[in-house]
Order: sequence, then structure tokens, then C-alpha cells
Amino acid sequence: MSDLTSSAFLRACRGEPGSRVPVWFMRQAGRSLPEYRAIRGEGSINEAIAKPDLATEITLQPVRRYGVDAAILFSDIVTPVHAIGFGIDIKPGVGPVAEKPFASAADLDRLRPLDPDVDTPYVLETVRNLVAELDVPLIGFAGAPFTVASYLVEGGPSKTHARTKQMLHDEPALWHNLLDRLADIAIASLRSQVENGASAIQLFDSWAGTLDPTTYERSVLPASTKVFEALADLDVPRIHFGVNTGELLPLMASAGATVMGVDWRTPLTSARARLGDTVTLQGNLDPAVCLASWPVVEREVRRVLAENAGNPAHIFNLGHGVMPAIDPEILEQVVELVHAEGRADGGPDA
Ligand code: CP3
Repeated sequence: MSDLTSSAFLRACRGEPGSRVPVWFMRQAGRSLPEYRAIRGEGSINEAIAKPDLATEITLQPVRRYGVDAAILFSDIVTPVHAIGFGIDIKPGVGPVAEKPFASAADLDRLRPLDPDVDTPYVLETVRNLVAELDVPLIGFAGAPFTVASYLVEGGPSKTHARTKQMLHDEPALWHNLLDRLADIAIASLRSQVENGASAIQLFDSWAGTLDPTTYERSVLPASTKVFEALADLDVPRIHFGVNTGELLPLMASAGATVMGVDWRTPLTSARARLGDTVTLQGNLDPAVCLASWPVVEREVRRVLAENAGNPAHIFNLGHGVMPAIDPEILEQVVELVHAEGRADGGPDA
């Protein structure tokens, strides 16, 4: 185990200058990597997550290959609700699917509190394995109450989130109870990951951007604030991420994150104008750009760096996850370029 306090990633989380711009990629593990496809095997991803040796190796693969500045635990946002028996699986090529969606107050009984030591011991074993092995920080994560609720209510991925919106508007008391339970589950999961050695946490509210700001503030923000407030005593950076959130960024930041994820639709200059100088920004190359030829990718990486204008409070990332079709060699080049181009104004980081 190494002392990572002065690592490039944690310095940037704190807004401190370092020797390079840190970079990692959301969904850096997974199907874009041939070494992942080689060991992943058949069966549900939940089965892979439940095998600590396999999950450890899958987490390490992109760290080895890319030389990224952080690892992210190989798990999923629905792992805790799966573990407490809600009845949700992850279908390859589709995403999380619940055979019996969440529809009424009776379904609250399917969402008992999470006891991480008993319900997801394999996740904690993976975290401990990783912390012993890694020389970069490990990011733990959870799904935000809204995004997990959207899968439970819709029964699967959705473009419109129509049922979810109907419930939050028509049945505010039921919605509040649902989000409150999911907030408690996220809190228990994140706390246990940090207690077992994770150096930072990220709350994925991937689909929050489907909401207008007024609805977000009324129906989602209180639950996400509860999550961040409950973890504020832990001495780790707290990252908050969603897609299509340009209009929501100040509200999302007010939930209590110290780092804000920014998708590619919002230039970092605009994000900073909206958020001020107290948070670190994480992002925001369009993942689809990585499907283009290298000169295009290079130009766009440089543009993101230019829009950050040398601010030390920046972690380079994609604006959303790595797509399976992206060539890993392009991502290797992105890491090299970010490390080479990033400011070199000193700072004794690892
Ligand atoms: O490298 C990493 O980022 C680590 C692991 C990770 C996974 N899921 C593994 C995974 C993380 C951080 C997640 C988070 C997650 N899961 C989110 C938030 C991030 C985002 O993309 O917005 C969401 C919305 C989910 C739900 C989910 N799980 C989806 C939409 C899918 C894709 C379905 C598919 O097959 O296209 C999954 C499955 C999943 N989770 C895979 C991986 C590597 C791929 C499937 C597999 O290997 O079987």
C-alpha cells in the first residue's frame, strides 16, 4: 500500500498544482479491452462482480494498459439493490433490467437497508485487494438515488423516463420514500468502500439531465444532498456526475460534491463560470470523438486542455463512459498526450 496523498489525482481533487494533469476514463474497464473480453466469461456481470479475484484483475487491466492516474472499482450502480434481492439483472447490450418494476408502496419492502459486510462482502474484498496492489488512488462509487430509481421504476433503460417522471410528480410521498431508501443504500455502500480503503467516491447520477432544474431541485436534490452530507466526515474527495447537466450544474454542486463531472456539451469555461472556483472539474472529451482518427482526437484533447486554461483543479476524463467500439490504442495516446501537454509547473506529486 502506498501513500497516495500527493498523487496527481488527489492533488487535482483538492485544486493543488501538480506535475501533470491527471486522467482516467469512466468505464475504463470493460468491453473495449480485449483482455477484458478474454477473462470476462459468459454469464451476468453480477456474477463477475461477485468474484473478487476476477473483479480485481478487471479493475487493474486499464490501469496497467493506460497508465491512468486513478482506478475505478469494477462493480455496477445496481449491485447493492441486486444484492438485497430487489430482483434486477444486467442484460448484455441492454443494461439493468427489473422483471417486476417498482410500482407502489408495497415495493418499498423490496428495498431493505444494505449491510455491506453481509450483503456485498465480495465488493469489500475486491476493494481491499486493490488497495493492497495499486499505486494510484481507487475511486469507489454508487448510483445516485434518482438514476437507480429510474431503472427500478422503468424496469430497464429508458429514453424518456416517463414512468419515473409520472411517479415523482403524481406520488411525491412514495417517490420521497423510494429515494430516501436508495440514499441510505448509497451511503452504506460508499462508506464501506472508503472504510476498506477507497481514496475517493463518485456518485453517478447519469440520467439526472433528463429533468428540468425546478423538478431536479424539488424531487432529486434532497436525496443526493443526504448522501453527500452523510459522507462529509470522511476525508475523501466527493465527485458528482451526470450527463446533459449543463443547466443543473450549480444545483448538483450544491448537493455537497468537491469535484463536478462535466459532460462534453458544456465547455469547461462555461462550467467554471457557473460553478466558481471552489470545485474541481472532471471531464470532458466527447467519447465519440475517440472513434475518429488520431489528428481529430489530438485536436479535441488539446481543446479541452485549452478550455481548462491551466487551472490545477482539473481531472481529465471523457464526458461519459468509454464506448465498447473505441480502440484502446487511441485511449493510450490520449493519456500520453494529456500527461505530456498538461502543465508542468512543479509540485512533488507521485
Ligand atoms: O470501468 C468502470 O467504469 C468500472 C465499472 C462500472 C461498470 N458500471 C461496469 C459495467 C461502472 C462505474 C458502472 C456504472 C454504471 N452502470 C452506470 C453509471 C455510468 C454511466 O455509464 O452513466 C450506469 C448507468 C450503469 C448501468 C449499466 N450497467 C449499463 C447502462 C450497462 C451497459 C449495458 C451494456 O452491455 O451495454 C451496464 C453493464 C456494465 N457495467 C458493463 C460494465 C463493464 C458492460 C457489460 C458486461 O461486461 O457484461
